[in-house]
Amino acid sequence: MKKASTKAGFFCFTGMTELTGNATHIAAEENKLIIETYGAKAEISIYGPEIIRIRISKRNAAPRESFAVIREPAALSPCHEEADAITLETGALTLRIDRFPLRFSFFNKNGQLLGADDPRFGTTWQGDRVITYRKLFPGEKFIGLGEKTGNLNRRGSNYVNWNTDAALHTPETDPLYKTFPFFIGIHDGLTYGLFFDNPHKSYFDFGATTDDQMSWFGADGGEMNYYFFGSASVAKILEDYTWLTGRMEMPPLWSLGYQQCRWSYMSAAEVLDVARKLRERQIPADVMYCDIDYMDNYKIFTWNKDTFADPKAMIDELASMGFKLVTIVDPGIKIEEGYLQYDEGIREKFFAAYPNGEEYVASVWPGRCHFPDFYREDVREWWGRSFAALTDPGVAGFWNDMNEPAAWGQNIPWLVQFGKFTLPEVRNAYGLEMSKATYLGTRKLLGNKRPFVLTRAAYSGIQRYSAVWTGDNAATDEHLLLGARLVNSLGLTGLSFIGVDIGGFMGDPTPGLMVRWNSLGPYIPMFRNHSAIMSKNREPWLWGEENERIIRKDIEQRYRLIPYIYACFYQSHTTGMPLARTLAIDHTHLEPVYDPRFQNQFLFGPSLLVAPVVSTVEETEVYLPPGTWYRLSTGERFAGDQVIMAAAPLADLPVFAKAGAIIPMQRVIQSTSFAGDGVLELHVWHGHEPSEFLYYEDDGDSYNYLDSDYYRRLLKFDPESNRIILGQAKGRFASRYREILLLLHGFGTHTPTTFTVKNDRQQILVTITK
Ligand code: GLC
Repeated sequence: MKKASTKAGFFCFTGMTELTGNATHIAAEENKLIIETYGAKAEISIYGPEIIRIRISKRNAAPRESFAVIREPAALSPCHEEADAITLETGALTLRIDRFPLRFSFFNKNGQLLGADDPRFGTTWQGDRVITYRKLFPGEKFIGLGEKTGNLNRRGSNYVNWNTDAALHTPETDPLYKTFPFFIGIHDGLTYGLFFDNPHKSYFDFGATTDDQMSWFGADGGEMNYYFFGSASVAKILEDYTWLTGRMEMPPLWSLGYQQCRWSYMSAAEVLDVARKLRERQIPADVMYCDIDYMDNYKIFTWNKDTFADPKAMIDELASMGFKLVTIVDPGIKIEEGYLQYDEGIREKFFAAYPNGEEYVASVWPGRCHFPDFYREDVREWWGRSFAALTDPGVAGFWNDMNEPAAWGQNIPWLVQFGKFTLPEVRNAYGLEMSKATYLGTRKLLGNKRPFVLTRAAYSGIQRYSAVWTGDNAATDEHLLLGARLVNSLGLTGLSFIGVDIGGFMGDPTPGLMVRWNSLGPYIPMFRNHSAIMSKNREPWLWGEENERIIRKDIEQRYRLIPYIYACFYQSHTTGMPLARTLAIDHTHLEPVYDPRFQNQFLFGPSLLVAPVVSTVEETEVYLPPGTWYRLSTGERFAGDQVIMAAAPLADLPVFAKAGAIIPMQRVIQSTSFAGDGVLELHVWHGHEPSEFLYYEDDGDSYNYLDSDYYRRLLKFDPESNRIILGQAKGRFASRYREILLLLHGFGTHTPTTFTVKNDRQQILVTITK
């Protein structure tokens, strides 16, 4: 035991643990408040009235760039000094900084404590490990951390972030593929968010192993570097978090359609055959995929000359049927002289290497490989340029896999260098940096067209570049429910465009499970059917005639909802609000939301409540939050704030529209690239409160929307005057719909009542007479 002291000016030593100790010197420098202790330095900066950053590093630690944050701090707020504390007021929050020892407490403007250090320990180091111990409030709940198994409420659980190729994962496995060190705390009717921006292996404990006395988070190295968000609602915290780390662009419209994938369609003939069958059977679809077998011996940016002899001809033919093609890329570059990317990478020293300069070698699909060092800009540019091999023949989407990075055996030696770092410091950001390279490169190659990028591994900020999917799930009912929870939890970390492999990747689903999972598909932001080699094929017609009919109907439902989905993505683009929303966003303080029976339920956009159900039951309990709800399939009306028993036959997943819902839909089309009949259906469900929905449309495939080339109008329902108001259209884009058909549900005896109006840019008022 070394010396322990609480006197000002001394660092505390207790065994190997270094506590941050007392504040010895405090000064404001530019837009930062700098606090020094004996062995550490804290910097406080304000990013907005509701966002405060705390950075504590050992003295003389070099500043770190963030992979996630895209904003700079604002001016420092006024500070008040007292004998043993300093307070900093941002207008919305008060940060109290106790000096003896250094501790931080965050209050809202009513003086309510939102979050604080544990008074005993605060921030500490053990060797290079850095940890902050935090006060745990009675009844405090925690949501977030993105792709994590377990319950919606993470209280009593702990987690590790270490991006892993989690093949064969179960509903208990941790860690999985992605890292989002951001959570939201909920207590006493209050909310706060905390983003620990540190890409090292990190740990979160929500009272699990502290006998409920405190929570803690930390990392194996780097700094204590967190952003505290003090807004009063989950929605506003998400808005602030995505302001800090960026928001998604508008996705290409075609990527919202049904996507058909398989490891692998083995030849161009097979890809075309599946696409043709989808058309023949009138199953709407937009996307075909090529998994690893399209390549020559798994060499990235090549095509197999025998089985995919003329990729352009295949892609042109797909295009003539209204399909786009997405191809997979993995980071592992096969070691083989004469292979362009290998030769270039060796020549330019683009691969991750040991400190002696030798390239790191590990095996993945192609056999022995090197791995691009995506932390370097020159490497990212080279990678981006290489996509010409795919974009030239017409590939439109780019699927980034195995980027944890995966290497057989998983355990990449710690001394392998990536950019200025070694592996343990930045492993969690490899997928992000690869996706960034893919996005920037393909965006350049495609000119004004939006690339579709998909990734398995990720770190906070990924929403700026890519959609994600939840990796190799299994064909079980448990995984169906887990998938819904993962999507909802990912939505709490700035992501909206999220998919799960419909049907389950590993193993063989029963026909019932296949049908059930497809009925959830329309309400999963990315609707992709995918399955593993050796497992039973998953195409919709392989499950019997009746099941095919049901699956078709579900996929048609997706296409009906595309106008709504696209407008909801506009909300993700502008505010960070996800498309699939755990009930904890709108109904944060209601207990049933966290009840394991109901925790998988979510709102799809603002107005549709979806209750995922396993395939083995035909009825289920559904928690309806306060308000009035209408079963989408039957129009039946239910009072909210209660649990109902809902019929759930395989052909009818329980989905409810909220009273006042305004949902734009279209008639079924077989592909988003086909012109429909020009009619936009506007469904409105009667309610007693005024409601609105921001309708949004653009060309669906260029960046012109960033220059006002869109069609946007506010749609309102006013129950008092019994009017539907279609606000004046804004932007230059001409809507694809000539006509608007209003369908009114629950307004009178005849449901739905209908009206047709010409899609005029001027404000349109429709008065409903009973
Ligand atoms: C990984 C991916 C999976 C893909 C397979 C072959 O397991 O997660 O989606 O099909 O590799 O590329």
